[in-house]
Amino acid sequence: MSRILVTGGAGFIGSNFVRMVLSEHPETFLVNLDSLTYAGNLENLAGFLDHANHKFVKGDICDGQLVEKIIDDEGIDTIVNFAAESHVDRSITGAKIFIETNVIGTLSLLEAARGKGLERFVQVSTDEVYGSLGAEGKFTERTLLSPNSPYSASKAAADHLVGAFGRTWGLKYNITRCSNNYGPYQFPEKLIPLMINNALKDKELPVYGDGLYVRDWLYVYDHCTAIWRVIEKAQPGEIYNAGGCNEKPNMEVVNLILDRLGKPKSLIKHVKDRPGHDRRYAIDAGKIMSELGWRPSVTFEEGINKTIDWYLDNADWLGHVVSGDYQKYYDSMYADR
Ligand code: NAD
Ligand code: TYD
Repeated sequence: MSRILVTGGAGFIGSNFVRMVLSEHPETFLVNLDSLTYAGNLENLAGFLDHANHKFVKGDICDGQLVEKIIDDEGIDTIVNFAAESHVDRSITGAKIFIETNVIGTLSLLEAARGKGLERFVQVSTDEVYGSLGAEGKFTERTLLSPNSPYSASKAAADHLVGAFGRTWGLKYNITRCSNNYGPYQFPEKLIPLMINNALKDKELPVYGDGLYVRDWLYVYDHCTAIWRVIEKAQPGEIYNAGGCNEKPNMEVVNLILDRLGKPKSLIKHVKDRPGHDRRYAIDAGKIMSELGWRPSVTFEEGINKTIDWYLDNADWLGHVVSGDYQKYYDSMYADR
């Protein structure tokens, strides 16, 4: 039985990964280490928290002693590191926590993993480390890292550390870099759930700048299957991009959400742009497709419908995550735009 330490498994992608593994790979035992920041939520694990093959530990990846104890006590053979501060706008207003979690936290995991003979250390990274594209071209695994936001700079630093531990200490690692995810359990600070939440409440939809920034949308389940393929089939030391082949300008996404919810276009408000805003991301996923046989299974049209339905069906979840500090966050981020 494979024994995997998943970090950040109470967040958006991590919880979808935990759910997928427990449902589809019963030969796997998961220890889920998460410090439950504003983005981590045990409700994201509803129905799976007490699963026989799942153990939740509340703790910080920066706590090296705790991580080492988990690796030793639980007989961990694989680490998948999802834990991160993940929102670009927050990194612009406060970069320090991004360095602490994304850089020092990853370093702490690497130090704890070194010398333990792990089968694999999988670092869940992002296409944002490559920077921004013009109208043409796609990111490949050979594209130079050129991050523009404090978030992407911290993820690039972590990627370099992972590679350095591989070359210096023989740690068997992989890095995955995928495009923008969407789907159930995404915190409503990112574009799609924020717009759904605002539209449901007849609040303005704040589109940054001209709204013609392009993202390559990947349904979260497909990201999880990509990571699983990497765990199962990748050679150590390889980097894999994963993308949905779904390039869309933000305005198209926002219009689609409004149409689907039967809300008026007058809710759209063009607001002050994000500083250093990357114009376009697009992924060349040829390597993971040809080497590991991965394919995205959900089209954007299916995925956005499933996502909107999920938010409509999970009003309680949404109500809980937008209570408390959320309004304070929203006002601080959007009041001056
Ligand atoms: P998220 O913000 O929803 O979740 C992050 C999780 O990490 C939360 O549960 C949080 O509590 C936990 N966490 C934060 N700091 C921690 C710490 N110090 N110790 C332990 N746990 C901690 O993020 P997400 O969108 O699920 O992203 C997961 C990973 O995927 C991140 O590494 C992110 O960089 C990467 N990624 C995300 C996207 C995307 O579109 N969301 C795209 C590409 C890559
Ligand atoms: P986001 O979901 O924050 O992901 P990322 O910046 O990591 O790609 O943003 C996706 C796109 O949507 C990006 O071009 C910024 C834009 N955006 C808005 O126009 N308004 C918003 O309120 C948010 C959160 C994002």
